[in-house]
Amino acid sequence: MASDIRQLPQWKQLDADFAGFDSFSVKEALSQPSTRTQQLSIEAAGIFADFSKALVTPEILSHLLELAEARGLEKQIDALRSGQNINNTENRQVLHYLLRANEADVPNQLKAQFKAVQAARQQLETVSNQIAEGILVGATGKPFTDIVHIGIGGSYLGPKMMMEALQPYQRSGIHLHFVANICATDIHSALVRLNPETTLVIVASKTFTTLETMQNANTAKAWLAVGLEEDKTKLANHFYAVTASPDNAKKWGVAEGNILPFWDWVGGRYSAMSSIGLALAIGLGYESFEKVLEGARELDQHFFTAPFNENMPVIMAMLGIWYINFYGRDVLCIAPYDERLRSLPAYLQQLEMESNGKSVSKDGQTIDYPTCPTIFGESGTNCQHSYFQLLHQSPDFIPVDFIVTFDQPQDESEHHDWLVANAFAQAKALMEGRQPDISDTLAAHKAMPGNRPSHTFILDELSPERLGALIALYEHKVFVQSIIWNINAFDQWGVELGKVFSKQVHAGFSDDDLASAMDASTQQLMKRFKQARKN
Ligand code: F6P
Repeated sequence: MASDIRQLPQWKQLDADFAGFDSFSVKEALSQPSTRTQQLSIEAAGIFADFSKALVTPEILSHLLELAEARGLEKQIDALRSGQNINNTENRQVLHYLLRANEADVPNQLKAQFKAVQAARQQLETVSNQIAEGILVGATGKPFTDIVHIGIGGSYLGPKMMMEALQPYQRSGIHLHFVANICATDIHSALVRLNPETTLVIVASKTFTTLETMQNANTAKAWLAVGLEEDKTKLANHFYAVTASPDNAKKWGVAEGNILPFWDWVGGRYSAMSSIGLALAIGLGYESFEKVLEGARELDQHFFTAPFNENMPVIMAMLGIWYINFYGRDVLCIAPYDERLRSLPAYLQQLEMESNGKSVSKDGQTIDYPTCPTIFGESGTNCQHSYFQLLHQSPDFIPVDFIVTFDQPQDESEHHDWLVANAFAQAKALMEGRQPDISDTLAAHKAMPGNRPSHTFILDELSPERLGALIALYEHKVFVQSIIWNINAFDQWGVELGKVFSKQVHAGFSDDDLASAMDASTQQLMKRFKQARKN
């Protein structure tokens, strides 16, 4: 039974801890001479994590880690590493860690799959170099200057976020464009200034059936066909596909040699380090792409081998459990204080919410405790001037992950000092709060409760290695939480129904019988749309 986790003695211990925890003040705990900052800080793969502003004591943290042990986390990590079919509803292995593994770390039973990974890396290196160096050219013999990556969800958010994050590493002469939305504004704004002769289109889709991606790919194909009027025969030069369904890509018209693989044992939202990164490898150079893998590998090894009390993703996950399941705060703010990481919150929204946004246990039982937090966020300092008001004074706290980077590619230390100062200051303000003078008539309005938890992650630089490590950190955190909640983090059945209905509604636009079978509210909306179309 799913709800059994609350019957565990370790859970009950935490219930008791929580009951007596009302008066705990982080500010006070930090003002006492203690080893709190050392005990609640940890460094791995170049990321320094400061959990000392968390709403816990080291003792409670140790109880949270006991819960992780009681939930069999160690065994579950082994199951993931050894390639068991832990994605039980789809009967699949979950092997995104293989994408960045070294041969020595791969267990024997996964050697064949790892060989395929190595071959794919080799292909990625060759193809990306040949495109960037102008060896592979377009229909009219011109080298490619613009790469249009078309994908959505996991086939888009990762590459886009990573490209922005690593913008200072981009090589010159190649421009990358990312298109996802079926809204034509997206593809049109990408294509409007491009020359078909020098444009390469990458269609990235695990299934190669996704509506938005195929619609955008068709539009790009038509645009190229018009633009390359006289060289239609070589249209195929302008397309690459990255997919786990090569037959679908071939049927659509991608040449066999232009298809890069990945596999059904890599979930879409966990595929950032697969061939899905083709545009990234072209834009950054393959060596930089390899460094992303290196950083992720280092974090993987940390996760696989560090004891729980020194394990960054485990601690991060268990603090989340404390806030979500004991405080009832199932929301999390991601605040990267670096404009290069502006798309990180959107990337993590999919990673966390598509993985753990579920209310059924692995064995099909209804779950009646809170699970995945609602993730939101924006880069700092912008976020301070929009929704941070709520973080400081709403009735209940929302935990914040501050992500701070110490390098500054523009060599603008005045900007950077203020950026970092603001990140640290916000965390301090959330923690300390403010008790204004009661003689102030606005005292009640100005009062800030404080004692609001945040975690600060420092990256000494936003290098490819650190970015890889950051991605792996959140991936493993999500996995740990799924084990505590007994959720399969690797399926996404909840996205299906909307896709089915979209086909029905779309068909109803031109078929009145189908439209009249809809519910009254949807019919009303459809009627207005049809009317607008007529006008
Ligand atoms: O609809 C959700 C989803 O299936 C995601 O899980 C996935 O990342 C995205 O769509 C794109 O899927 P694909 O890579 O197959 O086009």
